[in-house]
Amino acid sequence: MGKKVILSGIQATGDLTLGNYVGALKNFVKMQEEFDCYYMIANLHALTVRRDPKELKNNTLKILASYIAAGIDPDKSTVFLQSQVHEHAELGWVLDCYTYMGELSRMTQFKDKSAKHADNINAGLFTYPSLMAGDILLYQANLVPTGEDQKQHVELTRDIAERFNKLYGDTFKIPEPYIPKVGARIMGLQDPTSKMSKSSTIPNDTILLVDTPEDIMKKVKKAVTDSEGIVKYDEKNKPGISNLMEIYGIITNKKMDEIEKEFQGSGYGTFKTAVAEAIINELEPFHKKYNELMDNPKYLEEIYDEGAKKASQVASKTLKDVYEKIGIIR
Ligand code: TRP
Repeated sequence: MGKKVILSGIQATGDLTLGNYVGALKNFVKMQEEFDCYYMIANLHALTVRRDPKELKNNTLKILASYIAAGIDPDKSTVFLQSQVHEHAELGWVLDCYTYMGELSRMTQFKDKSAKHADNINAGLFTYPSLMAGDILLYQANLVPTGEDQKQHVELTRDIAERFNKLYGDTFKIPEPYIPKVGARIMGLQDPTSKMSKSSTIPNDTILLVDTPEDIMKKVKKAVTDSEGIVKYDEKNKPGISNLMEIYGIITNKKMDEIEKEFQGSGYGTFKTAVAEAIINELEPFHKKYNELMDNPKYLEEIYDEGAKKASQVASKTLKDVYEKIGIIR
């Protein structure tokens, strides 16, 4: 009875946000004690939108450094780059042939991204979920921690895996989406009705993990609130304040009613300063580690080379089985 297997990935695009930190990274760190974890950097997926090559390379390293700085231990978990394990591209292609156009057309992310990048609706954007299915199925993952927005892709992965298993006999574990409650709902500071996202284009909407303490203070001070002047949790009528309370609560481990009491009678200014300081304190050790890692590309290289070796051992077994079953000579 081995440990359950976890696989997750973050696309190698943009700078990570506080939302990624509490919603993904912190949970990844917790899970590595209990599970056999594979944490990937999805740099092949990043190609579905036109990227500057230098930036893509650098973003890949930034995400790797963020994983490690947040506390993922490369000796406990397998941390790797998607591009370094060629089985991803191969299984992705195979699964393309077991995924229907109709299924892919229904994906919300495809619809959103093709609206956003109307001048570049490429085939990769369309088949993105089959590549992601390959990522997950190669490791026989039991659980896939992701944001709510990726749930549909994990569900499609299940359908593809079941279809394949029905045709060729048991080949893939059927994975389950795992959506952590904590941090899943960190919203934008300027638009508290939508998730804080690294692709947001609204100025001051997101807190980036690379922001300086001054940036963080400034952004929190500018966060949208309301005119009531009372620190009270009310998601519907006070989405801005509720979001800041949510952030503060996650970091300080305080419940909403405790926070209400703590800031009873104080204005939004005082509250915002406290929120910003909590974030700054939380991120301080992360920053330090992150900067050290980014100054040490050799060490990062060692980590991803080692990770690729470990990942390949598992991925190659699955792909071998798949190729044998479908009649592909390798
Ligand atoms: N599509 C995911 C995202 O945009 C990233 C990703 C790629 C992923 N492959 C994955 C997540 C496999 C979980 C499992 O966030």
